[in-house]
Amino acid sequence: MALLFLSTPERAAVWAPILAAAGEEMVVGEHAVADPGAITHLLCWVPPQDLRRYPNLKVVISSGAGVDQMPPLPEGVALVRTLAPGIEEMVRDWVVMAALMLHREMPVYLAQAAEGRWQTRDVPLARGTRVGIMGMGRIGVLAAQTLRGLGFDVAGWSRSGRPVAGIEVHGPGGRDAFLGRSDILVCLLPLTPETRGVLGPDLFARLPRGAHLVHAGRGAQLDLGALRDALDAGQVGSAMLDVTDPEPLPPEHWAWRDARIVITPHVAASTDHREGAAHALAVLRAGREGTPLPGLVDQAKGY
Ligand code: GLV
Repeated sequence: MALLFLSTPERAAVWAPILAAAGEEMVVGEHAVADPGAITHLLCWVPPQDLRRYPNLKVVISSGAGVDQMPPLPEGVALVRTLAPGIEEMVRDWVVMAALMLHREMPVYLAQAAEGRWQTRDVPLARGTRVGIMGMGRIGVLAAQTLRGLGFDVAGWSRSGRPVAGIEVHGPGGRDAFLGRSDILVCLLPLTPETRGVLGPDLFARLPRGAHLVHAGRGAQLDLGALRDALDAGQVGSAMLDVTDPEPLPPEHWAWRDARIVITPHVAASTDHREGAAHALAVLRAGREGTPLPGLVDQAKGY
């Protein structure tokens, strides 16, 4: 049983002593694989082309929370996403920052600041402002609880509609009602065939007029042209995006220069090296003990 590690040298430097101390074998880089038959686990963001080189591969661990970048895996190979409290907390922080920035009209003030213009506007109350979170997984729930603690009136939407204590959660049948009460819409959905392009003209039309968009899902979920139309029509007031399609967004792209949009370069979270290693150890241990793999992905659903 050995873990093939295909990630950055900085991450390898932190992982190697942690796995060694736990008595686990870690091979860094495909060039270092002496016996492909010994490789049972693979840590990577995107796997190498030919996984058949490793006949005993059992588990692929995504180095991040997302798995949409993974190609279909060979039959019988499990897919696991990294579960790390730091990832969830970092994305929560970015979402809360973005929601507050849009709520407090930072795009307007940043544009004024660029012109050296001192001009005040009415200050809105967080209390009672309605936030809608699409995607009520671990990160969505954490963000919902934090925003609720700031006084926002928070509701969630998820495919399952699974209840969350203290938060009104809508299921598929409640989508329109949910959108209609989202003064600030937060997208934290995983990328699947159903969510590709979900942030498009139909969805924007169902938001309250002047609603704001916070997007930390995946770039391919957002139709940027539809966002521009909705901004021009006043249907959407402003947007903060951590993900775009493509990534990187080309320097000449209009969205960089649209004062109503604030873009960060997919930095809402990055996996803390120690937490990533701890998760991999938990996956290795679970495999040995025959207990459920932490972070196991339903490959049919895509998350
Ligand atoms: C980042 O987007 C991740 O999936 O970890």
